[in-house]
Amino acid sequence: MSDVVALARRFPPGFLFGTATAAYQIEGGHDADGKGPSIWDTFCGRPGAISTGETGDIACDHYHRWREDVALMKALGLSAYRLSISWPRVLPTGSGTANEAGLAFYDRLVDELLAGGIRPFVTLYHWDLPQALQDKGGWAAREIVDRFGAYADLVARRLGDRVKDWMTLNEPEVVAYAGHYVGVHAPGLRDFATGVLASHHLLLAHRAAATAIRAAHPAARIGIALNLSHCEPATDSADDADAARRQDGYLNRWFLDPLFGRGYPKDMVALYAPYFDRAGELDRYDGRLDFVGVNYYTRRLAVAGDGPLRSKRVEREGAERTAIGWEVHPASLRKVLLRVHSDYAPREMFVTENGAAYDDVVDGDRVDDPARVSFLSRHFAAAADAIRDGAPLAGYFIWTLMDNFEWAHGTSKRFGIVHTDYRTQRRRIKSSGYWYRDLIAAHRTAKVPTGAA
Ligand code: FCB
Repeated sequence: MSDVVALARRFPPGFLFGTATAAYQIEGGHDADGKGPSIWDTFCGRPGAISTGETGDIACDHYHRWREDVALMKALGLSAYRLSISWPRVLPTGSGTANEAGLAFYDRLVDELLAGGIRPFVTLYHWDLPQALQDKGGWAAREIVDRFGAYADLVARRLGDRVKDWMTLNEPEVVAYAGHYVGVHAPGLRDFATGVLASHHLLLAHRAAATAIRAAHPAARIGIALNLSHCEPATDSADDADAARRQDGYLNRWFLDPLFGRGYPKDMVALYAPYFDRAGELDRYDGRLDFVGVNYYTRRLAVAGDGPLRSKRVEREGAERTAIGWEVHPASLRKVLLRVHSDYAPREMFVTENGAAYDDVVDGDRVDDPARVSFLSRHFAAAADAIRDGAPLAGYFIWTLMDNFEWAHGTSKRFGIVHTDYRTQRRRIKSSGYWYRDLIAAHRTAKVPTGAA
């Protein structure tokens, strides 16, 4: 039996094999047909913000090439696709009058996916906040909660007859802290208290959106995509063990605990006391999730240190890494999935992102990326281990369909299983894309009962 067939057999019938993308990273069409500016349009104009000096103005030009891109998904045999809606494309100033042309774009895309047998999973917020709302304080202002609810209502009413699976937010931790504390993402602020406040508003906004979607379509399934990691101490010292617990509280528990109706973790509320005093507002909060989406890329090693978390992330010397510098650690994917399962017992889970950047080389029509094939094989195997051990994992979305605009790295980091030539917009399926196609095909065949073929 080939490796791919053996791997495919480890996933249950009906398991979804997808890819994920985000609007700003692929669409381009930054001012097409009435779209308003987002905070990423603004941020890209800030000198030094994007290492390559690029913008997402064109990106993969998916706004115009969506049909070709869905055809690619069909060629790969995907059973699901995770996309995000650009808020300023459908509501140019974040609220008020909708942009019909923007809504119509997502209508066409969803229809084309469904016609191709591909189940759409829609994320409402993958980081491209309308600039007009940032001008009113963005995620740091309470007003955002109602705005997000109204936006969710608009999109759910428009697409909810066809889209059944929703994610409110992508990676609220990254939104809050990369955007408002570390400053490497839009809007580029650098204040920890603002970061915590943003995380609080993000959680409230999640609930506002979930409520709106369910009101429009009671059968809708609501999830959220969280970037979760297994956090471990880099040494066996007690101080480092505490540091790892704080990292875990910061990254994992701060979001999971409230979403599952437990309020903010007490140790973190105490740690954040100098910065944040609104924890009580989450009393009786329940995210009411139908599924948890896990975005997993790497593990987190911690030692005691300074700063608000009194800890510091460190890297294991000599570890295997991808081209973006992240340690390759498939065993931690299994740990994360099982931990969410045992500590929170969600009804269902998906890996909503996992993938790797490598410096791919084009050779005529071919792009051979054995390192990515190896990365993905090992991570899918780790996910299969988690399923074997009881995790209710129902699908896996590779990040990403095609190379795209990787935020502050511009187009310099390639995560796609399809190569994008940014000069010509030609797409080339990489070896990893063919590997995925074979895995999916083997899974389909494996479902045929013995003797029926
Ligand atoms: C995740 C983001 C996604 C992409 C990958 C590499 O944090 O959700 O948009 O940038 O990292």
